[in-house]
Amino acid sequence: MSCCSIHPSILSADFANLQAELARISTADAVHVDVMDNHFVPNLTLGLPVVERLQAVSPLPLDAHLMIADADRWAPLYADLGLASVTFHAEAAIAPIKLARELRARGSKAGMALRPATAVEPYLEMLAEIDMLLVMTVEPGFGGQAFLDVTLPKIRKARAAVDGSGAKVAIQVDGGISSSTIERAAEAGADVFVAGSAVYGAEDPAAAVEALRAAAQD
Ligand code: DX5
Ligand code: ZN
Repeated sequence: MSCCSIHPSILSADFANLQAELARISTADAVHVDVMDNHFVPNLTLGLPVVERLQAVSPLPLDAHLMIADADRWAPLYADLGLASVTFHAEAAIAPIKLARELRARGSKAGMALRPATAVEPYLEMLAEIDMLLVMTVEPGFGGQAFLDVTLPKIRKARAAVDGSGAKVAIQVDGGISSSTIERAAEAGADVFVAGSAVYGAEDPAAAVEALRAAAQD
């Protein structure tokens, strides 16, 4: 049962009871926090003050996914909260290498995300600068969307490049991950799986996490 990491997304949790919702996913490896600004994506969620409180009360490490414009300015402020990892979008960063270095210097793992239509090739030379590559498997902005199979070749390319580079980079997938899609993403080379509706839409979210982990190994 140690094939991979499962990161439930609290986007599908009850926003009025976030601390209690964190306690329902004790079997998870980390909690995925979706930050949206209504500029980079057409939706608005939460920001620094809420993430600061989540960091203070969460029994699990926090994995922040910043779907926000002006990542160069904002992402370091999330790292300053002491988060385990901070992921910015490549499309929202002017200087991704400098930014990744800044996140690491502030003690967070550095993640970089790619929208479904963003090619991975231009970023392969900076693999050593990041700890995690997030290949979005839906258009960012909303939970509950269908997994885009068109992203599978990109996951495969990323896996081959990471293995060939010798760099220790996790490959995260996010969007439409369920017991029926996780195996495809795992087979393509992903090893960190975000799931919102598949976890918090279940009656027993902790059991849903275990079911996803098992399905990834099928
Ligand atoms: C979408 C977010 C995801 C979202 C996934 O933009 O980045 O993390 O919560 O939700 P599901 O698993 O329901 O597709
Ligand atoms: Zn996300």
